[in-house]
Amino acid sequence: MATLTINGNKVDFEPGTTVLQLAIDTGLEIPHYCYHQSMSAPANCRICLAEIWQPNPRKDGKLESLGKLVPTCSTPAADGMIVYTDSPKAIANQKSVMELLLINHPVDCPVCDQAGECHLQDYSYQYGRGQSRFQEDKNKQPKKDLGPNVLLYSDRCIMCTRCVRFTREVTGTAELMVEGRGSHNQIDVFPGLALDNELSANVIDLCPVGALLDKDFLFQQRVWFLKKTPSIDGITASGDNIFVEHNEGTIYRVKPRRNDEINQWWITDELRYGWKFVHSEDRYVMPSVLGEESFEVSQAREPGPSA
Ligand code: SF4
Ligand code: FES
Repeated sequence: MATLTINGNKVDFEPGTTVLQLAIDTGLEIPHYCYHQSMSAPANCRICLAEIWQPNPRKDGKLESLGKLVPTCSTPAADGMIVYTDSPKAIANQKSVMELLLINHPVDCPVCDQAGECHLQDYSYQYGRGQSRFQEDKNKQPKKDLGPNVLLYSDRCIMCTRCVRFTREVTGTAELMVEGRGSHNQIDVFPGLALDNELSANVIDLCPVGALLDKDFLFQQRVWFLKKTPSIDGITASGDNIFVEHNEGTIYRVKPRRNDEINQWWITDELRYGWKFVHSEDRYVMPSVLGEESFEVSQAREPGPSA
């Protein structure tokens, strides 16, 4: 079995994986935005870059640096590699990437639904500079209604292209694209299309920042108040694994729970939004017999002492 070292930790692996995936699988943290295991790796966010040393077989296995920082998300793991994401060069890169990503970001965390589960927020604490040196005006970009379930806050987007790749590589519907150039890049739907497919709302979970938001959950609850209960799809009989997220007896949203054998990382929109009947006023909460006097819901909800 091959072995490499990531930040001083020795890791055994079977060839055929990348350095970043190996780190994820073994619980070692390498920051990443654009990479997601289910899709191609464009290596465009650059925060996963590492300093890597590798044995050179032409020099009797002497360790040699690859010279420049390389993206761990697209670098195959190789036997004897030494990977540093905590060296001065790698740390300087992480700080530069965070600074670049935040140049045009509105930093509106107090009113953003993603606050509390945002990779931009988390990495800012872990890998950022702590303050901005940018004094010019920020680019302002519009909010867009992409489809029945998803809103886009363009100026929070870090252009990782996860959402675009999802519609091309997973659903095959390709409604999304990158429009514009440079700092004016924006995600958009193709003219005449809406982001409206059976799996459309999964882009909300894929978006590492607060750019793609769930219309149904918008401003409903701060995520740190929610409790997650693992559950199984009880609506479409798919067996999909889910988390029911709730607070004080009220459900606020349903999220996919990863299961590689069944639903992988995804759930359908039908399942994601199909739970509303749970809190319906008309819902039967006790058994009732056909032909018998109708059951008083108020009695059922407030059982007497003998209940
Ligand atoms: S909207 Fe989100 S997922 Fe899509 S490119 Fe921007 S940051 Fe990435
Ligand atoms: S995760 Fe490697 S470049 Fe984005």
